[in-house]
Amino acid sequence: MSTMKALVYFGKGNCALEDRPIPQIQDPTDAIVKMVKASICGTDLHILKGDVATCTSGRILGHEGIGIVQSVGSSVKSFNPNDKVIISAITSCGSCKFCRKGMPGHCVEGGWILGNTVDGLQAEYARIPHADGSMHKCVRGATEEEQVLASDVLPTGFECGVLNGQVQPGSTVAVVGSGPVGLGAVVTAQLYSPARLIVIDLDQNRLRTAKRLGATDVIVSGPNTVKEVFALTDGEGVDTVIEAVGLPKSFELCQELVAPGGTIANLGVHGCKVDLHLQRLWDHNITLRTRIVDASSSQMLIKMLDTGKLKTDGILTHKFKFGDMSKAYDTFGNAAKHNALKMLIEF
Ligand SMILES: NC(=O)c1ccc[n+]([C@@H]2O[C@H](COP(=O)([O-])OP(=O)(O)OC[C@H]3O[C@@H](n4cnc5c(N)ncnc54)[C@H](O)[C@@H]3O)[C@@H](O)[C@H]2O)c1
Ligand SMILES: [Zn+2]
Ligand SMILES: [Zn+2]
Repeated sequence: MSTMKALVYFGKGNCALEDRPIPQIQDPTDAIVKMVKASICGTDLHILKGDVATCTSGRILGHEGIGIVQSVGSSVKSFNPNDKVIISAITSCGSCKFCRKGMPGHCVEGGWILGNTVDGLQAEYARIPHADGSMHKCVRGATEEEQVLASDVLPTGFECGVLNGQVQPGSTVAVVGSGPVGLGAVVTAQLYSPARLIVIDLDQNRLRTAKRLGATDVIVSGPNTVKEVFALTDGEGVDTVIEAVGLPKSFELCQELVAPGGTIANLGVHGCKVDLHLQRLWDHNITLRTRIVDASSSQMLIKMLDTGKLKTDGILTHKFKFGDMSKAYDTFGNAAKHNALKMLIEF
């Protein structure tokens, strides 16, 4: 057998399953992985909307999943055939100036390339460049489903949301966007014991999951959202506001919610220009931070999954066979209609 099925992006609004050659080792640092489980990300939806210019027609999508190593290049040291691995959304060479600064998201030969500038994980097989720095061994203490969340959802929520947002014990936090990544921030923010953890979304079902995962308060986004958040925070606004949507409207809401001295941590992928209201914020002593996930926390988060220290129940809501990818995209793209959060794809 020399061909496989792969989900290929064909330009704005268009993707389909296609036969492709099974990838082969190209560089000594590569691994070839047979996919076992994968998922679809909000970022894949941004690609389909045409928001991500670097991802061009013909690209196999996907940057989240686990699989079994089939073969490794001659210089791969940490993995062998038959290892079950979590593939990180971020590829890291480990030696370029950005990797050495602790910013593999900006790796000169890597970063977010899978399902973007090189073929990704929504395929029966995938080639993983810089395998040593871009994969983690699966653990026994967590399900495959939970470990799929370690590719992107958990490290992004934690690094871009919680760490960049400087969540502190006893502080107030608002997460705007209760999608899987926003929920990743909800789960990992609790490692720092904030006094209030407010989650805002348009989708009641997603808010119910946020509540189950530890949100202290949930708010259906609407004309009174700012008032409601101020009522919960002694009229001050929140110390940390995490933008986990990627739209002008939600980023503008974050600017209204941040307390004096607070931090806005943007993790949403934005496809168009957004206003920054300095006429109001210039004297608020705020910090605005942006970040692409580095996945530098993945090993720690996987350890916590292994020992049951992170609760992620309810983030994965739907399972699809790989042959039904178009149904999976349709369900994820119309999440509110289907009470959907994260799609699990089984090969
Ligand atoms: N920075 C990074 O490295 C990185 C990594 C992964 C994902 N992302 C981005 O993170 C964001 C979230 O990803 P996801 O997979 O959870 O996406 P998602 O699309 O499933 O979730 C977005 C949520 O925002 C809600 N929403 C929409 N408009 C809103 C509004 N006005 N107010 C409040 N909520 C609103 C939606 O109902 C939905 O629940 C996306 O933009 C994704 O591209 C960034
Ligand atoms: Zn993702
Ligand atoms: Zn690098």
